[in-house]
Amino acid sequence: MEPKKELAEKIIVALDVRTKDRALDLVKQLKNVQTFKVGLELFTSEGTLLIQELHRLGKNIFLDLKMHDIPNTVAGAVRSGFIHKVSMMTLHAFGGVEMMRRAAAEAKNLSEETGEAKPLLLAVTILTSLKGDDLRQLGIKTKLDDQVLKLAFLAKKAGMDGLVCSPRETKMIKKEVGKDLLIVNPGIRPSWASSDDQKRVMTPAQAVKNGADLLVIGRPVTQASEPEEAFLRICRELDSP
Ligand code: C5P
Repeated sequence: MEPKKELAEKIIVALDVRTKDRALDLVKQLKNVQTFKVGLELFTSEGTLLIQELHRLGKNIFLDLKMHDIPNTVAGAVRSGFIHKVSMMTLHAFGGVEMMRRAAAEAKNLSEETGEAKPLLLAVTILTSLKGDDLRQLGIKTKLDDQVLKLAFLAKKAGMDGLVCSPRETKMIKKEVGKDLLIVNPGIRPSWASSDDQKRVMTPAQAVKNGADLLVIGRPVTQASEPEEAFLRICRELDSP
């Protein structure tokens, strides 16, 4: 049975594989998935050729390169992403307000000039792989949650469309920073899937209940013996948690 469109569209599947063949094999199996995340590994290996193939198959692309560079360089990368019609891109809030502002302005201007859809720009606050001790080692004395909020406020001020954050942070961000930022959660595990190397996981239904707008799910789907069945099972769980 086909999943409800609005539920299926909440899930972005992470193509964390190295080759175009493997990625396209998964995409062809996952007929009901509309948006795929292409990250550092796959993009470094297959680049824009893969992006073109995904477009040919009618899919949307979330380009997750977590950009962090001088404002001019990041604005240029946003322009390149726009030319390749990616739907979403990520950048590190730690790149600073000016970097985020320039990126937001570039996306907005290009969209206005061409009439094409604006890619959504998502800021990464603190990587979920970092703990309080890691921040102190980097010379950051602020408590981790406070630092996440500080960066989330800056991202909003700079014109970011949303944030990628841990499902544990969604409620706090929506409460403190506002509901208008799109919240995207990785670190999602259905109860029947292994947590792999994710330390603090949440089920898809819990994450959505906490306010996530979109979920990024990789291995529970891509490494399942039947990826499409795993995806449909998650959609069913979102429908009746
Ligand atoms: O396989 P899994 O569901 O753990 O994949 C999660 C995806 O989300 C991976 O592509 C990972 O790089 C990404 N991600 C994450 N945690 C973050 C940011 C991104 O797991 N804080």
